[in-house]
Amino acid sequence: MRSSRFMQMLLAVTMLLSACGESHRPPATRSEAATAMPADAELAQIYDSSCKLCHANPAAGAPLTGDQGAWAPRVQQGADTLLDHAINGYNGMPPMGLCVQCSQEQFLALIAFMSAQSIPQ
Ligand code: HEC
Repeated sequence: MRSSRFMQMLLAVTMLLSACGESHRPPATRSEAATAMPADAELAQIYDSSCKLCHANPAAGAPLTGDQGAWAPRVQQGADTLLDHAINGYNGMPPMGLCVQCSQEQFLALIAFMSAQSIPQ
């Protein structure tokens, strides 16, 4: 009797865990976001001291670095809108993403890096 109760509990826990996995982002995306860095050293430095604070932090409400699904509809807005939102701010996204010295090219490169896709003009 005892062992079948244990099996029932095990089953319940397994079901709970798998239900959890379905409704949440897989943890792989979070750890990827925490460790991903642009290949270019200058961009990596900018990313590390600005964008990363929010875009690698699931609590910030920002689309996470490397989360192509979260970025896809944003990227579809095109380069002009993305730049406008990066430079002038957009809801929780602060103007210039805290990088006041960033150029438009750098913003686009950072967005392409974070979204893991190329930005249509
Ligand atoms: C203080 C937090 C914070 C920082 C720092 C930050 N972002 Fe964001 N960003 C956000 C949040 C939150 C959103 C989601 C806004 C929304 O959709 O409501 C966002 C969204 C965006 C978007 C999508 C806008 C759209 O049109 O959907 C782009 C592009 C972006 N960020 C670029 C950057 C870049 C580039 C940097 C670094 C230079 C950066 N962000 C730094 C918080 C931040």
